Amino acid sequence: MALWGGRFSQAADSRFKQFNDSLRFDYRLAHQDIIGSIAWSKALVTVGVLTETEQGQLQQALEELAEQVNENPQQILGSDAEDIHSWVESQLIQRVGDLGKKLHTGRSRNDQVATDLKLWCKKEGATLLGQLDMLQQKLVRLAREHQHTVLPGYTHLQRAQPVTFAHWCLAYVEMFERDYSRLADALKRLDTCPLGSGALAGTAYGIDRQKLALQLGFEQATRNSLDSVSDRDHVVELLATASMSMVHISRMSEDLIFYNSGESAFLELSDQVTSGSSLMPQKKNPDALELMRGKTGRVFGALNGILTTLKALPLAYNKDMQEDKEGLFDALDTWGHCLAMAELVLNDMKVNEEKTEEAAKGGYSNATELADYLVSKGIPFREAHHIVGIAVVQAIEKGVPLEAMSLAEFKALAPEIEEDVYPNLLLSSMLEKRSALGGVAPQQIEFALNEIEKRLDSR
Ligand code: ARG
Repeated sequence: MALWGGRFSQAADSRFKQFNDSLRFDYRLAHQDIIGSIAWSKALVTVGVLTETEQGQLQQALEELAEQVNENPQQILGSDAEDIHSWVESQLIQRVGDLGKKLHTGRSRNDQVATDLKLWCKKEGATLLGQLDMLQQKLVRLAREHQHTVLPGYTHLQRAQPVTFAHWCLAYVEMFERDYSRLADALKRLDTCPLGSGALAGTAYGIDRQKLALQLGFEQATRNSLDSVSDRDHVVELLATASMSMVHISRMSEDLIFYNSGESAFLELSDQVTSGSSLMPQKKNPDALELMRGKTGRVFGALNGILTTLKALPLAYNKDMQEDKEGLFDALDTWGHCLAMAELVLNDMKVNEEKTEEAAKGGYSNATELADYLVSKGIPFREAHHIVGIAVVQAIEKGVPLEAMSLAEFKALAPEIEEDVYPNLLLSSMLEKRSALGGVAPQQIEFALNEIEKRLDSR
């Protein structure tokens, strides 16, 4: 039976009912709805709507229901209840009879659904924070293992300057650190409890909402009932955070797909996260990474969807807002799966250190060093840049690296060049020179690793 039958003399068209019902996705809020209902029943005692005994009966029935749900949440899907709020209430009435009908006093599904969803966001958010942390830890461990593994660094996907694999790992640690802080920030801002806001104007029962909020684990109660039931900022913020993080996951995936490709062969992904081709026996495809890259689209889609739905909605609650859940559930599930998958991929891949070093040496990636050397001999950088450009063309024509050019050849380009140019062109020297904060020099990597390890430990 619907919660609102009294005013109606005709039953809902079955097609409308199917269109309108949200149980098939909001059943995931069962736990939160039950917890919220228990807290509400306690609040009703303080205003004399329920006796202690009645509250005790309701609480016991709700706790039993919670246990039953925990065993198999999908059982809810068999019901034809309109939404999770109606389902919980009807289950309660089945268990305790007419007493169950008192629970909804002074409450609306509008403040109820807002509360349930925030409780769900808090729980899910905590899990995602943990996953971001795990992924960062994995990357830090990998950086430690590959502290001295040289990797070509790219701009425009052309070899630019050498870096280390550790430096690459730590770049992603920074990105996931910002995601962590964005998520923590969003969770802090949503930590206010809408329960007791009624349908829109507040509840007519003199409930201590602050106490109710604390009981439910919120930091405080919301301040304005109209806003309480209409606010879905947190859904947008979580989806924006998820989207940003998916950008990072997909960029990391793309890097690894390239590193794993036959063309660079910098690393080999584990058999456990790759798949074969049905036709070409030689193939080992980076499906896990491609799916992470691909799933980014649906997370962006959910963000766009909710923004568009909320835009220009009049205050207060409108049924449009029921559209907040499917996108949020799907996007946060997807984000969580991708964080876990990223960790799995990084767990067991083999970096080919010879290949990476060979590639880092090639591509004239020491051209900047030669220019800096000329600067040290008093040549202005712009001029030095031009001279080195010519040197690179000559070396390309001869098919040799810069360091294979003879001193006479160098001197023909710039008489200032001496024998001491050669050590400057070594890979180790290139790395060591980048020793200012945030650079790729070994002591900077060591410093960065120590800082990050401390930060992660103290979290
Ligand atoms: N199922 C609805 C939602 O998800 C909550 C119910 C509010 N319905 C209402 N008619 N006021 O938003």
